Amino acid sequence: MKVVSTRAELREERAKYGGSVGLAPTMGALHRGHISLVRASRSDNDMTIVTIFVNPTQFGPNEDLNAYPRTLKDDLDLLEAEGVDIVFTPTASEMYPPGFQTQVEVTQLSQGLEGERRPGHFQGVATIVTKLLNLAQPKSAYFGQKDAQQVVVVRRLVADLNLPVLVEVIPTEREPDGLAMSSRNRYLDAEQRSSAAVLFRALGAASDRYTAGERHPVVLRNLIYTTIASEAQAEVDYVSIADPQTLRELSLPGDSPMLASLTVRFGRVRLLDNMLFPADLNSRPGLTATLGSV
Ligand code: PAF
Repeated sequence: MKVVSTRAELREERAKYGGSVGLAPTMGALHRGHISLVRASRSDNDMTIVTIFVNPTQFGPNEDLNAYPRTLKDDLDLLEAEGVDIVFTPTASEMYPPGFQTQVEVTQLSQGLEGERRPGHFQGVATIVTKLLNLAQPKSAYFGQKDAQQVVVVRRLVADLNLPVLVEVIPTEREPDGLAMSSRNRYLDAEQRSSAAVLFRALGAASDRYTAGERHPVVLRNLIYTTIASEAQAEVDYVSIADPQTLRELSLPGDSPMLASLTVRFGRVRLLDNMLFPADLNSRPGLTATLGSV
């Protein structure tokens, strides 16, 4: 496994490979969710590039950039064991050298949900993802379902900028009680950690109700709210039932797929999760065909 930290080295190493290349962009602090992206890339491609870069431009002024977990040594050990070919670990000044002033902005899709609570976040994501795709030149790039709005935004920019890459969406990895894997889970205390399973329970309850025939987004949204409210520690930030392609909030019953997403605070930790209805869409082919397809 080759570990490189400059753009020139990445281009040089990348150029040595003629076959298909898969890219898994990450911010490190790797867990099973990231490993599932790496494994999907390894099984689809001749070689795999992983990037580890805590991108400062996607953090707001009041967010946890400095506190974001950095576990580079463990990350590299994991990636080596997974058979990754190249790991790119640039510094912030390597990615944003003096004079840098170009931004990529996906306008409407970046505005609601996470974008509304985290102004500038998706501009930071869209800009760094465009740069990483241009540097790595992959055939396919792998993103996790957990950041569903990110998937939708990336899909749009890839289509709009005519980038020659396939965006693949990999299902959320979960703990045994259903909690979605996240590098932020480590900040939960024991009591918050056991309460945090309520996100999955709430999404699951709404999914079951959908399966039983309920098609009214207001009913499904309320069910998620009331399930979360039953946990004393949990404070709902938002619950959304939206169109998985446009991310527009749904208010009328319908048979098209729905994206249920929510964020919930446990003290200072903000957890995010989502699920597509109907339930069978939460598979790799279902997600790749449904989430933000353009
Ligand atoms: O999903 C993430 O970890 C980040 O948003 C990404 C895609 C690596 C861009 O910094």
